[in-house]
Amino acid sequence: MTTPLVELDGVSKYYGTVRALEGVSLEVHAGEITCVLGDNGAGKSTLIKIIAGLHAHDAGTFRVEGRDTTLSSPREALDLGIATVYQDLAVVPLMPVWRNFFLGSEPTRGRGPFKRLDVRHMRATTRAELLRMGIDLRDVDQPIGTLSGGERQCVAIARAVHFGAKVLVLDEPTAALGVKQSGVVLKYVAAARDAGLGVVLITHNPHHAHLVGDRFVLLKRGVMAGSHTKQSLTLDELTRQMAGGSELDDLRHELERAPAPTRIGGHDVPPAAAG
Ligand SMILES: Nc1ncnc2c1ncn2[C@@H]1O[C@H](COP(=O)(O)OP(=O)(O)O)[C@@H](O)[C@H]1O
Ligand SMILES: [Mg+2]
Repeated sequence: MTTPLVELDGVSKYYGTVRALEGVSLEVHAGEITCVLGDNGAGKSTLIKIIAGLHAHDAGTFRVEGRDTTLSSPREALDLGIATVYQDLAVVPLMPVWRNFFLGSEPTRGRGPFKRLDVRHMRATTRAELLRMGIDLRDVDQPIGTLSGGERQCVAIARAVHFGAKVLVLDEPTAALGVKQSGVVLKYVAAARDAGLGVVLITHNPHHAHLVGDRFVLLKRGVMAGSHTKQSLTLDELTRQMAGGSELDDLRHELERAPAPTRIGGHDVPPAAAG
């Protein structure tokens, strides 16, 4: 048993009296993908914000490489090697790809009044790092806004790998994408895993989760509705749980018990009276 890169144990988070998360546990291991699935309002974003250092948790234990931690800023999370890619990506659309790749960590050359951005290095490194992930961008000078949503996700993943992240957290990276683009993004998520990172993948899509996931945590209204490893969970079962599993069964029963009213003379007549 290796120490997880990130481990939550019974973590809770309240917004005033709103219970956003209660008793949530998960593990993120190097070279593995932990998927977090859940409906709207399940607490997925809250969970990310705790791992990313935006919110401190209220109860439970949060360990980073075995050490008890309460993060008080995203900078602190980054310093511990936790990189988070948000859905809106926070890029500057009109700036070149290379500029976005180094945003906030620009290398410089020269000293004092001669200090300037090392543009040549940034261009070359961006191109090389993207190539290393298997992304062949012909022109790293093009504004990042001209890339597709999927390509931008890929650049963000390559960036996290380049800057030495140990843990990569992705908030619904495939939510707005078509089938083909989703596949491309999942390929780079897998590439980050193969580079040895521990990945947290938030998604609505059980198919995407099952394709790449090693561990699965299901959230429902802030509490855990299941925690599985790949060996213990089939795609069918995951899909069923995401579709609302037992709720759907209940609904099916109710719908069966209420046959459509029969129309007589333009008025709805309940089945009993019609029979
Ligand atoms: N800043 C906030 N203040 C108050 N309630 C919040 C805040 N953020 C989220 N919530 C509530 O916490 C619950 C979980 O939200 P969230 O983590 O965004 O879920 P998800 O990302 O799975 O849709 C929801 O009931 C939501 O309304
Ligand atoms: Mg959310």
